[in-house]
Amino acid sequence: MRIMFATLIFGLIIGCSGPDPTQNLSAKEAFIDSLINKMTIEEKLGQMSQSTGHWEMTGPVVADSSNLELTRTGRLGSFLNVIGAERTRIAQEIAVNESRLGIPLIFGYDMIHGYATTFPIPLAEAASWDLALIKKSAEITALEASASGIHWNFAPMVDIARDPRWGRIMEGAGEDPWWGSQVAVARVKGYQGEDLSSLETVAATAKHFAAYGAAEGGRDYNSTEISERNLREVYLPPFEAASDAGVAAFMNGFNDINGIPATAHDFLVKQILKTEWGFNGLVVSDWASVQEMTDHGIAATDAEAAALALEAGCDMEMVSKTYINHLTEKLALNPSYLSMIDEATRRILGVKYDLGLFDDPYKYSDSVREARVVRHNDHFKHAREIAKRSIVLLENRNNTLPLNPNLRKIAVIGPLATDTETPLATWSAQGRQADVTTILEGIKLAVGTDTKVLQADGCEINSQDKSGFKKARGLAKQADAIVAVVGEHALMSGEALSRADIDLPGVQLDLLKMLKETGKPVVVVLMNGRPIAEPWMYENCDAVLETWHLGVQSGPAIADVLFGHYNPAGKLPVTIPRSVGQIPIYYNHKNTGRAFEAQDRYTTKYIDEQHGPQYPFGYGLSYTEFTYSNLMLDKPSFHQGDSIIVNVTLTNTGDVPGEEVAQLYVRDLAGSVTRPILELKGFQKLMLDPGESSTIAFTIKAEDLRFWDRNMKFKSEPGMFKVFVGTSSADLSESEFTLLD
Ligand code: NOJ
Repeated sequence: MRIMFATLIFGLIIGCSGPDPTQNLSAKEAFIDSLINKMTIEEKLGQMSQSTGHWEMTGPVVADSSNLELTRTGRLGSFLNVIGAERTRIAQEIAVNESRLGIPLIFGYDMIHGYATTFPIPLAEAASWDLALIKKSAEITALEASASGIHWNFAPMVDIARDPRWGRIMEGAGEDPWWGSQVAVARVKGYQGEDLSSLETVAATAKHFAAYGAAEGGRDYNSTEISERNLREVYLPPFEAASDAGVAAFMNGFNDINGIPATAHDFLVKQILKTEWGFNGLVVSDWASVQEMTDHGIAATDAEAAALALEAGCDMEMVSKTYINHLTEKLALNPSYLSMIDEATRRILGVKYDLGLFDDPYKYSDSVREARVVRHNDHFKHAREIAKRSIVLLENRNNTLPLNPNLRKIAVIGPLATDTETPLATWSAQGRQADVTTILEGIKLAVGTDTKVLQADGCEINSQDKSGFKKARGLAKQADAIVAVVGEHALMSGEALSRADIDLPGVQLDLLKMLKETGKPVVVVLMNGRPIAEPWMYENCDAVLETWHLGVQSGPAIADVLFGHYNPAGKLPVTIPRSVGQIPIYYNHKNTGRAFEAQDRYTTKYIDEQHGPQYPFGYGLSYTEFTYSNLMLDKPSFHQGDSIIVNVTLTNTGDVPGEEVAQLYVRDLAGSVTRPILELKGFQKLMLDPGESSTIAFTIKAEDLRFWDRNMKFKSEPGMFKVFVGTSSADLSESEFTLLD
């Protein structure tokens, strides 16, 4: 009886064939308005609530029967962590057939670097400087997930991170607002495509709004204190870019900003996001971040927390149930909450509408398509492609790399050479260890039949035990070259995985020192989710490859680079410090009134640390050499509203073909507020054969020079600028121009 009733009502609301998602906006609005008019307060609050499924599901869909009951009674609008075509279909059937209005559920999931095919961590992909390939990773993620019943990805994380202690630095695009914005757009477009209602796309989420990456001391969840100017110039640009790109959702951060938790930050969410930027998608809280406002000490009760979040523009509450449990009583006391509840419901229904769920609530839960597309061979091919492009060559003394694949013996030493968990990193979604090709396997597949590959762990990733050193030394001594695979375990970066030291854990550095003593060339393959500060390693080992956590195809991708089948072209999207004491360290800092001078005592520096980073932002070597020459501008000055062209000649002066990421920076020499010493404004990646030259042209528009001036107006100020082009933020040719009124 109940099912028949629900079906009837659902049919009445959506019409027999459902709304056509291609209809114009007013049709969408009319549909949603009419639905809202039929909803009770409980049903609206239900739409505003999201519960989690369980990883180990014992019954149909979810073990927690209270979630099923909430779904049945229209008091739940969304699940996260209910995965797979079959399970999502079962849950959807309950919502559609058994709840009074039959409003479909929206299923969300964290697919930070892939659904079932695991790609490099986002920080690694950002090192590829290849927006088309970054977008493709997102497209494949959406393709696999959308076949498996998932509608909504809690990615991209677009938090700027200037503190490598913060474990979640691995989830973003690094330290630069401009590059972070480019990557944010590529990812949003990759997940969402042109049309959210397409079977092959999912809704994306820009998170964590905002400045979660600025956690004090790099300790996850910690407070942030940020001026509005700094917020707008450094932390908000990737969010604004995501909003402009049409991202469907935003997620609040866990952090408080200048005393106000992000979940209750009306200035951020209502004023900046929804009003200034005109964002009309939905805002979801982070996991229980509404309820956690009682722990922040800004709400005395759950009811107060719910009211604060609602007032600030948080549309959907993840996991904690303060909305469904308390907003009815709050509404009785304050009738103005009704319009806020309606507004939140409207935004949530709007995303469901755009996904086409009212048209066909089961369209994404397709077991046949799921079996066909998930872990498709082509996806693994892409995983290898983007993985090799994400590798950064940090050192290559005496051209140690590439290795000759016909060496007599190669010793592969280190605790990560055979690890299948670490390449998947954290947030591995449906990634499986069984699908990982390890580094050892990758090397074995790449070498000639006469090459012997010897292997020993030497030590564990994080232990003081050196008993394995002896065997490792024995093998290393026999070999012609040593590949030392060291770094951080998967669970040393990611959420709640901040570190106070960012060196090599355990006795891995001692292992490297022991290997170096054998006199054999030591090639370090570094696997890590954050910059690692370990000067001895960088300064003494013969070659160092920054390989991050590269996903399922780690082994083949690393072997491609080790043996020169691919000439590495990755560039750091984040500064690598020499020591923790230098943090925060980033390239686009201010000059101060006493810029560093080695000989001058009264300049900015540490007395016990060499000045500057181990490796600067934008840095990365190649197996070939590049030379920049003839930096020229098309004119010495230009006016507001106009642009200038910067030309430079790039030549491959080495012996092998290679790609270079040519970077463009500017410096505003005198502003109404102090300006960074460098700001990235563009890049071009190009492939050149040995001896080949190419002239690169960059265009700088006057509007590219805007910043938040002394009166908090976003504008470009006339005056002198320096312009720089080069191979990293620390190796640049320069010229200058004037911006006129
Ligand atoms: C907490 C994390 O901060 C957020 O990024 C994630 O999307 C949610 N948990 C859901 O898993």
